[in-house]
Amino acid sequence: MTFSWSSVAMCMKRFRLALIIGVVFAVLFGLLCGTRGEEDSRWVKDLGEGVQVQLQKLIQPLQERLTELEKQTMKKYPEVRYLPESERKRILITGGAGFVGSHLTDRLMMEGHEVTVVDNFFTGRKRNIEQWVGHPNFELINHDVVEPLLIEVDQIYHLACPASPPHYMYNPIKTIKTSSLGTLNMLGLAKRTRARILQASTSEVYGDPQEHPQTEEYWGHVNPIGPRACYDEGKRVAETMCYAYAKQDKVDVRVARIFNTFGPRMHMNDGRVVSNFILQALQDQPITVYGHGKQSRSFQYVSDLVDGLIKLMNSNESSPVNLGNPDEHTIMEFAQIIRSKIGGNSVIQNVAAAEDDPQRRKPDISKAKKILGWEPVVPLDRGLQLTIDYFRNELEHAAKMKVPGKPVE
Ligand SMILES: NC(=O)c1ccc[n+]([C@@H]2O[C@H](COP(=O)([O-])OP(=O)(O)OC[C@H]3O[C@@H](n4cnc5c(N)ncnc54)[C@H](O)[C@@H]3O)[C@@H](O)[C@H]2O)c1
Repeated sequence: MTFSWSSVAMCMKRFRLALIIGVVFAVLFGLLCGTRGEEDSRWVKDLGEGVQVQLQKLIQPLQERLTELEKQTMKKYPEVRYLPESERKRILITGGAGFVGSHLTDRLMMEGHEVTVVDNFFTGRKRNIEQWVGHPNFELINHDVVEPLLIEVDQIYHLACPASPPHYMYNPIKTIKTSSLGTLNMLGLAKRTRARILQASTSEVYGDPQEHPQTEEYWGHVNPIGPRACYDEGKRVAETMCYAYAKQDKVDVRVARIFNTFGPRMHMNDGRVVSNFILQALQDQPITVYGHGKQSRSFQYVSDLVDGLIKLMNSNESSPVNLGNPDEHTIMEFAQIIRSKIGGNSVIQNVAAAEDDPQRRKPDISKAKKILGWEPVVPLDRGLQLTIDYFRNELEHAAKMKVPGKPVE
């Protein structure tokens, strides 16, 4: 090893640099953490006024940036009840980022359960559930239910499936796969984990009904090769699979036959009556009524549905149960009610009727009333007001983001 004064000088230089960096970091750390003791402050004073001023200049912007970052990352979650371990369930909600699924997520999270949302974001949005992202009781998995899923759960609400005609007709084969393979996978998961599974079925299993109102005993009147068949028949086979698994493998199933539902977080391009009419009226566009407008529908507000789903899941009833609001109106009446609530200059315009559009739809909810003690409680007027307020905000948001928010033609 050779000795030279230049290498000693270099070493000294490096040592001095390291010392200065160390001192600066120690002071910064002390200042940022706010834990400097008396000894430290005396030590800083000893540095001399000039150095202190220089340090303060360095530290000030860092402190400001830190406060800003803290504000951004310190997320406030909606209040969640504390449930003891023995009552807390691990609940999977497939399609939990969609319209109904996100409201169900809110309710079950607030009740104190651990919720896992599985969604492929076909029609769902992260915005619908962003209030829970990062919460210790919440997990979000970007996953397509057509593929198997291996997790541990106590209950499964199986909602994953596009629900509005433009969405489910966009790729009919995928819709059938979602209803068939997707439900098969979830039933398999329920079997392995011994979880109870609730299938989100639909009033569409009754097709264009020849019985009115529709009871759970009615077998339906569905066109198996029409444009809506991918959804209607998909949901029918999903019910068939639920009962095959229940019979053969003792899987604990619940089947909710959901009738038309509306409320905040419906998709802007949902294409269904309520969202179309509200968006058209808010934008002073003609309100388009398919056909003569005498076809009837009954709409339930989403919070009523969520109540019904939770009650059904926790009941002993394994046969199908209708969940809907029997308050029936013609489509033309809906157009008039919405126009008068919003005001504006929209005209009501009749356009060509949609193919296989059911003429009458009204649930008989005697079974849900008797078995679950459930019936809708939110009046149409109140539900519509909340939905109108939501769409008004969404349009303002879309305008800010320069995204045109247009209903589907
Ligand atoms: N909203 C209603 O009026 C109504 C009526 C009857 C039945 N339903 C049923 O309720 C459920 C929810 O309906 P919604 O109105 O909230 O619809 P939605 O389209 O808002 O929600 C469906 C969710 O499922 C997700 N999804 C679709 N395919 C998927 C796949 N292959 N894998 C994973 N995720 C997938 C979507 O991204 C979306 O988040 C659906 O099963 C629907 O058939 C709804």
